[in-house]
Amino acid sequence: MKTSYQGMRVCVTGGAGFIGSHLVDALVDVGASVTVLDDLSTGSLSNLAGVQDRVRFVRGSILDEESRRRALDEAAVVFHLAAYVSAPGSVKEPMACHRVNTEGTLAMLESCVAAGVRRVVFASSAAVYGDSEVTPKRESEPILPCSVYAQSKAAGEHLLRVWNHVHGLETFSLRFFNVFGPRQLASSAYAAAIAAFASALLEGRPVTIFGDGGQTRDFVPVANVVQCLMRAGVRRGASGSEVFNVGMGRAQAIRDVAAIMAGILGRRFDPVWASPRPGDVRHSCADVGAARRSLGYEPQVSLEEGLRETLAWYQSTRAAAAA
Ligand SMILES: NC(=O)c1ccc[n+]([C@@H]2O[C@H](COP(=O)([O-])OP(=O)(O)OC[C@H]3O[C@@H](n4cnc5c(N)ncnc54)[C@H](O)[C@@H]3O)[C@@H](O)[C@H]2O)c1
Repeated sequence: MKTSYQGMRVCVTGGAGFIGSHLVDALVDVGASVTVLDDLSTGSLSNLAGVQDRVRFVRGSILDEESRRRALDEAAVVFHLAAYVSAPGSVKEPMACHRVNTEGTLAMLESCVAAGVRRVVFASSAAVYGDSEVTPKRESEPILPCSVYAQSKAAGEHLLRVWNHVHGLETFSLRFFNVFGPRQLASSAYAAAIAAFASALLEGRPVTIFGDGGQTRDFVPVANVVQCLMRAGVRRGASGSEVFNVGMGRAQAIRDVAAIMAGILGRRFDPVWASPRPGDVRHSCADVGAARRSLGYEPQVSLEEGLRETLAWYQSTRAAAAA
């Protein structure tokens, strides 16, 4: 991929966030000329500390035309990750989510065409499958959103399809499953499971598990997601508007993941069991065959390696904050 990205101008929306900043690191590493567009609503400049002298940063919203114009300056490929990211939050604030995710994606696509962008790679979500119990999930499954967040990601995919059809923009939607890794926020009320487990374990609090913990998720280390994004950015030949699942292709019970994490830290696994959360799906696992065949995606980082790296990062962040 190094030669394909060398000198290429790319724009990453949401590039100061958890996944976006790892993507920016990788793009800088292969010689791309990167502009980040981010309003820092949930992201942070500290996530870009390692590359701050080598990226152009535009602080602004994807909803602001001038910010989009400045950020897209001669970009060939846009990775569109900026979003209102919480599904439970979107139930309480539907309009806020709709504006950023649906109107924001539409505005990005309009600006991309005006700026002569060739390809857009969009961060979609496994949430689009809703509460379907089919497992593993293939891209051909029906879309059954159960939150405004999920609906907005489905709308984003459809908008990409329209812009491909009408304007010939090359588009890829990647449906991320449960991504985890360094820089993921553990502080929010809607923190993802692994971030919440890490913070509880490191603070010496018991891990809270909803239900019996036998519910399964496809937890994917962020490095694997970055690999898939990078592959989509330069895949030769685009046939229509393509959609791919991004996960490990393996279902992991939540309680097992928490137990592995406790084991890595040498702690006793002694969780608090809470009532099941209404609306939680029992099983969610990706079929990643299409991404393998079409993008050459191959998860390189195992679940356990990812958990070790993630815990080490939370530990070092806590140590730095305490110093
Ligand atoms: N983390 C996961 O497990 C997961 C799963 C499925 C999909 N996704 C998608 O991946 C993408 C990245 O998610 P993340 O987990 O890194 O979250 P994140 O909150 O760390 O990143 C989102 C980034 O977008 C920025 N942003 C938000 N609204 C903006 C706006 N109006 N204009 C400009 N920037 C804005 C935020 O400041 C932040 O830097 C999102 O689109 C999310 O929906 C994430």
